[in-house]
Amino acid sequence: MTELSFLHRFEPGTVPGRPPVLLLHGTGGDETDLLPLGRAVAPGSALLSPRGKVLEHGMPRFFRRLAEGVFDEADLRHRAGELAGFVAEARAAYGLAAPIALGFSNGANIAAATLLLHPATLAGAVLIRAMVPLAEPPEASLDDKPVLLLSGAVDPIVPQENAVRLAVQLSDAGAAVEHRVLPVGHGLSRADLTLAAQWFRQR
Ligand code: MLT
Repeated sequence: MTELSFLHRFEPGTVPGRPPVLLLHGTGGDETDLLPLGRAVAPGSALLSPRGKVLEHGMPRFFRRLAEGVFDEADLRHRAGELAGFVAEARAAYGLAAPIALGFSNGANIAAATLLLHPATLAGAVLIRAMVPLAEPPEASLDDKPVLLLSGAVDPIVPQENAVRLAVQLSDAGAAVEHRVLPVGHGLSRADLTLAAQWFRQR
């Protein structure tokens, strides 16, 4: 595997023209976690899957938190910048177009922050169980970038009101947001897979 600034896995695309996908795992996951999900929902796409650099009791994450749902925003801003740098390196190393992020939980939160702080890094995003990453949303211009936000109606970590606020922040910044609320909790469900696959087929 090419040496880049994040430990990662890369699987080349097999169907020309399919958008590359940046896979961002949840707390305690790693670079192998979401490869099966990526293959299932975006068949033929190149998959780029970094491992979060922050350790919480030995569990990889993409940025520090002070408590569940309470983020260290200075670290989050710094880490979103690092991730944007990694995507630029990987695009040059592997010859990729700007990727669509597919993030779960902590990975969805860094994807949302990266969209808002470094809009040029991503061509769009699927955010599974994301919440508002930054108390003060940065001024971003998301130019109709497509975003699918998949929330759980009974998610004990992400209150509904918070997910709705994120959808509003992203659409206010110009993204083309589709927000679906599923009758599930925080974990990944079959409905996430079905809806993400449908969404990717339209890209
Ligand atoms: C986070 O810390 O990003 C959220 O609380 C989601 C999680 O990782 O559990």
